[in-house]
Amino acid sequence: MIRCFDGERPAFVLDAGHTTYAFRILPTGQAEHLYYGKKIELADAAELAPLEEQHVYAPGNTVIYDNEHPEYSLEDMCLELSSLGKGDLREPFIELWHKDGGRTSDFVYDSHSISKDKPEGELPGAYSAGGEAEHLTVVFKDKNYGVTLELHYYVFDECIVRSARLINTSGDDIRVLRFMSQQLDIPQSGLAVTSFHGAWTAEMQKSTVTLPAGKLVIESRAGCSSSRANPFFMVHDPNASESSGDCWGFNLIYSGDHYAAVEVSFYGKTRIAQGINPTGFEFLLKSGESLSSPEAVISYSSEGFTGLSRNLHFFVREHVVRGRWKYKPRPVLLNSWEACYFKISEGGLLSLAKAGKELGAELFVVDDGWFGARNDDKHSLGDWTPDSKKLPHGVAGLAKKLNAMGIKMGLWFEPEMVNTDSELFRAHPDWVMHINGKAHSEGRNQRLLDLVNPAVQDFIIKSVGDILSSADISYVKWDFNRVFSDVYSPYLPPERQGETVYRYQLGLYRVMRELTQRFPEVLFEGCASGGNRFDLGILSFFPQIWASDNTDAVSRAAIQEGYSYGYPLSVIGAHISCCPNHQTMRDAPLETRFNVAAFGLMGLELDLRDVTKAEKQKLKNQ
Ligand code: DGJ
Repeated sequence: MIRCFDGERPAFVLDAGHTTYAFRILPTGQAEHLYYGKKIELADAAELAPLEEQHVYAPGNTVIYDNEHPEYSLEDMCLELSSLGKGDLREPFIELWHKDGGRTSDFVYDSHSISKDKPEGELPGAYSAGGEAEHLTVVFKDKNYGVTLELHYYVFDECIVRSARLINTSGDDIRVLRFMSQQLDIPQSGLAVTSFHGAWTAEMQKSTVTLPAGKLVIESRAGCSSSRANPFFMVHDPNASESSGDCWGFNLIYSGDHYAAVEVSFYGKTRIAQGINPTGFEFLLKSGESLSSPEAVISYSSEGFTGLSRNLHFFVREHVVRGRWKYKPRPVLLNSWEACYFKISEGGLLSLAKAGKELGAELFVVDDGWFGARNDDKHSLGDWTPDSKKLPHGVAGLAKKLNAMGIKMGLWFEPEMVNTDSELFRAHPDWVMHINGKAHSEGRNQRLLDLVNPAVQDFIIKSVGDILSSADISYVKWDFNRVFSDVYSPYLPPERQGETVYRYQLGLYRVMRELTQRFPEVLFEGCASGGNRFDLGILSFFPQIWASDNTDAVSRAAIQEGYSYGYPLSVIGAHISCCPNHQTMRDAPLETRFNVAAFGLMGLELDLRDVTKAEKQKLKNQ
């Protein structure tokens, strides 16, 4: 429930399940954060008084906001929105460059509205089944420039979703240098931060630091949300346990470069800001145009990590994952990758699928290697036509044979990428992200297609769509195997290059939206060399993500434990693989491999033709 107490100045109370979030408008027009924690009953504005910080004097050496309020220093206040340049020296919410060269913003309260709408934009967002969510909009106007900033708050069960929209009505161009999605100031210091960092085959390694002073940054500069630092993190009582203690959780519904900072001020306050990474970002906003930030998800629990996980799991299952597969049990799949790598043939795939079927596999996934002249990772990405030597009856012919065997077929794609040795690259060298005439840094011998360009988006929709309509395919594994470098969209003019990563995500979301709407029965699984893009943006379209290329059960236990703090098990792809494991060379009992895979969407990824009779029986029982 959202309430506005209209005293002299409005104050807002958002009740989300067992939590309350409150803030008020100050006499100077800023929004002062009052409380985010366990639910409290508040009957009227007077009952907010104990939550209001008494501003008696501005600390020495700080800047006072204006002469009428010499006791107000923005540096020592809990704010919902911090403008750069008016005395608050902590992480700003927004940084704008104006035509006169000024970078100072001074946003003050203008108006507000409460509604029940949850509009859909180009960026994915949380949704509720009835299409409605309680929604508070608070509008701020810059005192000096014609710029409007809307803060949006949506209440979902135990979570609050925040985003912002900037509208340029100044008559001049402005440049947006930083634009966060949410900011939360907690009047406490000495809190701990648990974040999930990692790398390829070592995603979601949990690390906890207590922050008595200074700043911790959790960010990605990879162009995707990345395994280097997942956008999900927690801020909590250093003594919090699985079942007790204050915990606040944060995530972003976005797949590009993200940024979060947890900053402790000397005045005993902790600021948590999150949004698009300002590094490399610069958006030219013409007069009359607007820009929206991705939605941020925040949640609070007084019941420790488990309480917080329950809130977030429910939120992801109910308000992020969409479509026919939302509540459907997912099929047990057998993936060809670790059994065959690039060495595939129709006969080999059929014999592997048959072995899987005998053990109870319901879906057989043909991974990389089925198209163009793809015998290694150097060729053919972008040429989505079956290799007639490997699949003489095409994808459709193989699907028919698999279906006749009683097993469904899935197919691997890496639609956002191209090898320079491909028909696609030869035909459209300008469809690739690169800086003209400059050497390009390579990753897995492939380049990123420029998804900013609508022609590239159309090409992907058509080429993937054509294959899906040509054969009985029930599942798609959507891979993404390199990070961004040499970021440059040949489609955009030079003055808009700072928008490339953001606009790439918009292009990707358009492609994902269209394909999932056109093929609602197909189960899509996100993948990015494992978990290099495991985020709520992807989960808004694809109901599950391959968690890691590390299929070793012992490594996996830590990786999947990391995910489980913020993501439900129903979105985590996990397979039983062979021994010794291909990534770590470790042997682990089949029971252990099964137990770990069963804490996720269990599948198989091993050459079942090499498995002993006794192991086959065990697998069948499992
Ligand atoms: C990376 C994926 O994570 C693997 O599972 C596999 O699909 C390979 N790419 C194929 O190139």
